[in-house]
Amino acid sequence: MNIATPSGQASWPGVLDRYRSLLELPAQTAAVTLLEGNTPLVPMPRLAAELGAEGIWVKYEGLNPTGSFKDRGMTVALSEAVHGGARAVICASTGNTAASAAAYAARAGVRCAVLIPEGKVAAGKLAGAIAYGARVAQIRGSFDEALALVVEVSKREPIALVNSLNPFRLEGQKTAAFEICDVLGSAPELLALPVGNAGNITAYWMGFCQYDAAKGTGRPQLLGVQAEGAAPLVLGHDVDRPETVATAIRIGRPARGAQALAAARESGGRIVSVGDGEILAAQRRLAAEGVWVEPASAAGVAGLRAEVDAGRLELRGRRVVCVCTGHGMKDPDVVTARFEGARTVPSSLDAIAELARG
Ligand code: F0G
Repeated sequence: MNIATPSGQASWPGVLDRYRSLLELPAQTAAVTLLEGNTPLVPMPRLAAELGAEGIWVKYEGLNPTGSFKDRGMTVALSEAVHGGARAVICASTGNTAASAAAYAARAGVRCAVLIPEGKVAAGKLAGAIAYGARVAQIRGSFDEALALVVEVSKREPIALVNSLNPFRLEGQKTAAFEICDVLGSAPELLALPVGNAGNITAYWMGFCQYDAAKGTGRPQLLGVQAEGAAPLVLGHDVDRPETVATAIRIGRPARGAQALAAARESGGRIVSVGDGEILAAQRRLAAEGVWVEPASAAGVAGLRAEVDAGRLELRGRRVVCVCTGHGMKDPDVVTARFEGARTVPSSLDAIAELARG
C-alpha cells in the first residue's frame, strides 16, 4: 500500500498500516507513525566470502526514524495506548527505547517519562529522548531495577508501559521478519542478532513462524548473542551487576528470557556470548564494509564469527541475516575515545596530497 504525499509522490506507510492484517490489534486503531520500517537488507559480500557463507545480509535497523529497531514496536504500542485513551507513557531504557518512546509520544501528543541507569546511556540516545521532549530521570542502579520500578508505577497510575513486556511492541517488531522474507523470497537459513531484554528475538521468531504458516516461507535457525559480562541466558542465572561496552544490552534479568530460550531451541539454534573485544572488532569489521552500527548491534556478527571460528557453525550454502539494531551515531564516544584526534597539517597542497596518498 502506498500513501500519496501532498506533492503527489508515493511513500511507504509505516509498519502498522503495511502489515495491519497480520498484527493482533483492534481493527480501528489509527497509526501513530513516523513511517518506520522498510529498512535496507544490505548485502555484505566480503564478509560472506570471509566466513564461507552463500550470502550475508545486514538488516540495517539503525535507519529507522529514531535510529533503532525500537520504532517498529513503538508505533504499535503508542497507537494502541492512544486508542485505549492513554495520556502518558513510561519506560525504562538503556537508551534506544527511551528515544523511540519519546518520539512517538511527541507524535501522538502524549506525555512520556523515561527511567535510565545513571551514566550508562550513550550520548546520542539520551540527546534524542531530551530533544523529543520526554521527562528523563536516572537511577543509581541497573536497567533491571529501573524496569521493575516502571512496571510497578504503570500498575498504580493510568500510564501505559511501553517496554517490550507490552505485547504490542512485539506485534510491531515481528514485521522485520516479514520484510526479510519479502526481500529474500523466503526466510534465511540463519538469523544472528543481539539479545538484551530478549523482546526482539522473541518478536522475530513470532514473525517468522507466522509468515511460514501463512506463506510457507520457512524459518531460520536463531543465533542470539549476549555480551559476556551480561549473559544471563548463557549462564543460566540472573546477573546482578551486568557490565559491557555494549550498553544497550547491559541487562542481567531479561524480561522475556524464557521466551527467547524457547525460540532459540525451537529454531534449532542457540544463545551464545561474546567478549567486548569481539564486539568492538565486529563493529570495526562492519564499518570496514560501509555499515556503522552501535556496539550492541555488532554482537550478532561477533557471535557468528566466534561460532564459525570455533567450528561450531558451518555456513557453506547458507544465507545469513545479521540484524544490526541501532545506528553507530547513537554512540560516537566509543569510537572517538580510541581516536587520538585529527592531525593538524599545514594548509599546503603537498601536505594534503601526502595525507591522501596514505
Ligand atoms: N540492540 C540495541 C541497539 C538495543 O537498544 C537493544 C535493547 C537490543 C539490541 C536488545 O534487544 O532487549 O529486545 O533483546 N535495548 C533496550 C532499550 C533494552 O532500553 O533501548 P532486546
